Amino acid sequence: MQVMKRSRFSAVLYIGVALLIGAALALAWAATATAPATSGSPSALVTVYKTPQCGCCTAWVDYMRDEGFDVEAHDVGQQELNAIKQEAGLQRKLASCHTAFVEGYVVEGHVPAEDVRRLLADRPEVDGIAVPGMPIGSPGMEMGNRRDAYEVFTFANGEKMDAFASHNQ
Ligand code: CU
Ligand code: CU
Repeated sequence: MQVMKRSRFSAVLYIGVALLIGAALALAWAATATAPATSGSPSALVTVYKTPQCGCCTAWVDYMRDEGFDVEAHDVGQQELNAIKQEAGLQRKLASCHTAFVEGYVVEGHVPAEDVRRLLADRPEVDGIAVPGMPIGSPGMEMGNRRDAYEVFTFANGEKMDAFASHNQ
């Protein structure tokens, strides 16, 4: 009788411990599942396509890294880069040197990091943002103290849309 009781007690104990472990595992799993998404955080991954000869592209890549973004840069030929721009829906008048992708958006050219952060935070219904050409004084295009005025445009379905930001006005 005494033995029976003790074994029943230890069985209950084992079940209790197993339940506790199970609960702890479930909590740990829930914690990882509900961990905040990196979406919109400064550590978002920016994938950049550029030609290997492009110095201002490398300057923009370094600038974005300094701004806390995770940047993956790929060197491609000019033809491949043009194809990437075309597929990204960038008209010639929106195009710049490098083309970047971040969290589903296209970021074309020398776009300031603050605008990329706002894009990821606000998530407008656009394909991306672009700084056409290569304005002097934009990030990666520094030339002494010269700061030309330029705008960042949104675009969607291959069409240029609104001004997203103005700089050096
Ligand atoms: Cu450039
Ligand atoms: Cu570039």
